[in-house]
Amino acid sequence: MKDKHGRSIDYLRISLTDRCNLRCLYCMPEEGVEQLLHDEILRIEEIERIVGVAATMGITRVRLTGGEPLVRKGVVDLVRTIASIPGIERIAMTTNGILLPRMADSLKHAGLARVNISLDTLDHAQYRMITRSGNLDDVLSGIDAALRVGFNPVKINAVTVRSLNQDFLAYAKLSLDRPLHVRFIEYMPVGESSGTDGCGWGEEDVVPSEEVLENINRNAQAEGLGHLLPANGVGKPEGWGPARYFAFKGALGTVGFISPLSRHFCSECNRLRLTADGKLRPCLFSDEEYDLRQALREGSDDALRQVLETALQAKPDEHHDKVGTERGMSQIGG
Ligand code: GTP
Ligand code: 5AD
Ligand code: SF4
Repeated sequence: MKDKHGRSIDYLRISLTDRCNLRCLYCMPEEGVEQLLHDEILRIEEIERIVGVAATMGITRVRLTGGEPLVRKGVVDLVRTIASIPGIERIAMTTNGILLPRMADSLKHAGLARVNISLDTLDHAQYRMITRSGNLDDVLSGIDAALRVGFNPVKINAVTVRSLNQDFLAYAKLSLDRPLHVRFIEYMPVGESSGTDGCGWGEEDVVPSEEVLENINRNAQAEGLGHLLPANGVGKPEGWGPARYFAFKGALGTVGFISPLSRHFCSECNRLRLTADGKLRPCLFSDEEYDLRQALREGSDDALRQVLETALQAKPDEHHDKVGTERGMSQIGG
């Protein structure tokens, strides 16, 4: 599938639910978001049908997101079915990792290829504060489980926030002894959770990736670790997103940077997003949405194809510095 700006779109991100077993400050209010009604959420069979049609149009890679995808009932069967759809080559998931110790084995057997695990701090108290309820040890066990069952690559997503004062080098060092790919993501002040009503973080909390890289290099050199070198070719982990990768000499993993604010990567955009309530979003930063659910419930596969095609052609060339949408990340799936 080509959009009207000549970009090949072969990656579909599917949010399975807007619910989550955590309440990260920047993502959800404490009481949770107003939850979608049962009937508004796509049924598992409906998601399977959409992927089937999307695959005939050129989607080859699927990522399951949330909320937290692992709290969705039927997720393992969904992975198994999607994996069997002709044309779908790889399935990945972005998860907070809490349920991985229990579920990693069955997900792997069902055909999940790899996971990205969200973890914004390595400090127990800070983790509890950011997630409002989570236990850091659960995520660390989730990371162990992901490596043990052989997901490959295993990535860690850390959103960088100035007022959290995170220890970036401690993170980067996770890449030394195990094949872990740590990625620093510039905080995007989007949705109603940001700003004074939510976590209280704003644009002043965005830490540009360049600054994180310099901080790591300075502290690593002081510890005799050398500095990060660009990881291209063999050293670079499989990825369908906009991250740029580096590595310490001799490390088993890498350190990546995702810079939505300081480096626009719209020209490389390769994806469509599907929300849990069945809306196709051509762009993360735009509230323009196309109703796939209605087509699904009332129409033929051709009607579905048409909505997919319309959403594809509606992809903007870039997000024109608009940062902020009516829906929060937990509803869009990042
Ligand atoms: P890989 O295939 O492993 O590279 O994954 P990914 O980076 O595509 O997915 P993931 O769900 O791990 O997303 C990591 C971060 O990148 C999240 O904070 C996303 O919101 C952000 N991100 C992913 N895609 C886009 C995009 O198209 N635009 C913007 N602005 N941010 C994105
Ligand atoms: N800015 C940047 N990244 C975010 N994520 C969630 N909200 C934001 C935000 N406002 C990240 C999560 C997860 C990924 C899907 O998106 O931490 O790793
Ligand atoms: Fe849940 Fe992820 Fe949002 Fe945290 S960022 S509340 S883990 S959906």
